[in-house]
Amino acid sequence: MSLSFTREAHPNPTAAEARTALLQDPGFGKTFTDHMITIRYTEGQGWHDASIHARRPLTLDPAAAVLHYAQEIFEGLKAYALEDGSMALFRPDANARRFNASADRLAMPQLPEELFVESCKLLVDVDKDWFPPIEGGSLYLRPFMIASETFLGVKPSSEYLYMVIAASTGNYFKSGAPAVSLWVSQEFSRAAPGGTGAAKCGGNYAASLAAQREAIARGHDQVVFLDAAENRWIEELGGMNLFFVFNDGTMITPPLSGTILPGITRDSLLTLARDEGLTVREERYGIDQWQADAESGKLVETFACGTAAVVTAVGKVSAPDFSFTIGAGGPGQLTGRLKEKLVSIQRGAAADPHGWVVRL
Ligand code: PLP
Ligand code: COI
Repeated sequence: MSLSFTREAHPNPTAAEARTALLQDPGFGKTFTDHMITIRYTEGQGWHDASIHARRPLTLDPAAAVLHYAQEIFEGLKAYALEDGSMALFRPDANARRFNASADRLAMPQLPEELFVESCKLLVDVDKDWFPPIEGGSLYLRPFMIASETFLGVKPSSEYLYMVIAASTGNYFKSGAPAVSLWVSQEFSRAAPGGTGAAKCGGNYAASLAAQREAIARGHDQVVFLDAAENRWIEELGGMNLFFVFNDGTMITPPLSGTILPGITRDSLLTLARDEGLTVREERYGIDQWQADAESGKLVETFACGTAAVVTAVGKVSAPDFSFTIGAGGPGQLTGRLKEKLVSIQRGAAADPHGWVVRL
């Protein structure tokens, strides 16, 4: 499907000096670029009115379905400025597929994959002056879709808005600490069998916030969610997947059971590890075993991974009735090596044998 994008001139773009100042320390998710993409969907008509225009507030009727029943999905992917000066997206086709899988689960329309990728490329191209010139800097793209029909009956909306915004981005974790500290949620579940855990919908994040509030209050960075049925099997963090590294060089990551997000970073690291000949099992791993293995020394590293956080070592794990340290509490060797391998491919500094880097 091809739609042509209307380009609306920005009435008041950010001045170059102001932008340069903002890009010194952009943080995560707060330094936004000047433009955004909008495409509308109407039942019976399909996708229409694609445009790129100044980033601006939305006008929504207060009875818009998304505001009441949370029919909303999103994606997160990064654009990188490569060492040769060109720009690239990392596996945008995988984000496009996951976006449609989420859309299906939330009873929303499918967006043609090529339109998803084209919209991301167009925004990066128009806002190319917003790459932060800092170590680890990138443009974080946030494509999302909301139910925009004005109607309070509970049913799939007949109208939707797809949008893409972009944020100049540095590190996800403000502390910049070499390893993060996790809080094990024992009271709250994130997802249950048959629910929306495998979809990237806003509701999953809303459901995670009470646990995240608890974690922050106790001085931790992120929450580890366990399975809802037995409160035992490790699933993932509020916004990242997990890998466990053992002293025999093997790794485990929880399987895609339907209750965790199928992370694209997770999939990329699985592929890179297996390319190296490492054994990685996609297998259930219990919280009790994690503690026992960390204490015996059998488990030597744990890391979290995701687009925003890339690869981040886990140093400490706490719950109301126990606390344990992973390895020496800082980043381990395999964590560092896999991160370096992934980042080198993303930045165009290493060969890309799987064709993941999509240049603009
Ligand atoms: N799990 C959750 C709940 C997430 O929000 C994310 C972030 O997108 C991930 C895992 C990691 O996914 P990805 O590597 O595709 O960014
Ligand atoms: C991402 O890594 O893209 C995420 O979506 C995680 C979080 C910021 C929601």
